[in-house]
Amino acid sequence: MKTARRHKITNCAIYPGSFDPITFGHVSVVRRALKIFDRIIVAVAINTSKRHTFSVKERVRMLGQVFQSEGDVEVDSFSGLLVDYVKERGARAILRGIRTMTDFDYEFQMALANKSLEPTVEQVFMMTEGKYLYYSSSIIKEIVSLGGSAREMVPEIVEANLRKKLWKPKRPGPH
Ligand code: PNS
Repeated sequence: MKTARRHKITNCAIYPGSFDPITFGHVSVVRRALKIFDRIIVAVAINTSKRHTFSVKERVRMLGQVFQSEGDVEVDSFSGLLVDYVKERGARAILRGIRTMTDFDYEFQMALANKSLEPTVEQVFMMTEGKYLYYSSSIIKEIVSLGGSAREMVPEIVEANLRKKLWKPKRPGPH
């Protein structure tokens, strides 16, 4: 009878994105995905053609702070094609979250492009938890820039950074 050898398999997924900034919706995707994967690499895409509120360095630093107590989460950044980065890191899959049908259209298009670029790469999508349905980085930035609270939407450290960067209290002036 053959006995099965036990190999230590690292079942790793890459969670790519802009994370400008990370929201509780993203955090939830990572925590839930850790029930499926042994390791998640949260990877900030370096995209010089897009304008971002936070630099890559700032986003990587915030992500590192948010996941500092999660030993199975690594934070990194990458440039170039995502599928090349996935292969370079030896990951099993690309992980993405989906909230709405608009997300679905965009994700489906990207997934097909990735698959045609690299047929060996698998892609896994997690539906958002209902309470995070409307948490988008751009809406959150608008709320904070207008003096609203994003306490329910982003980790404390992120809210503090958003406030520092975006909130310019109005000076009382003549009406
Ligand atoms: O958080 P975002 O902005 O929706 O993330 C988009 C991201 C970074 C996943 C996507 O733009 C990407 O994969 N960029 C890397 C470049 C690439 O591989 N492009 C071709 C496949 S769409």
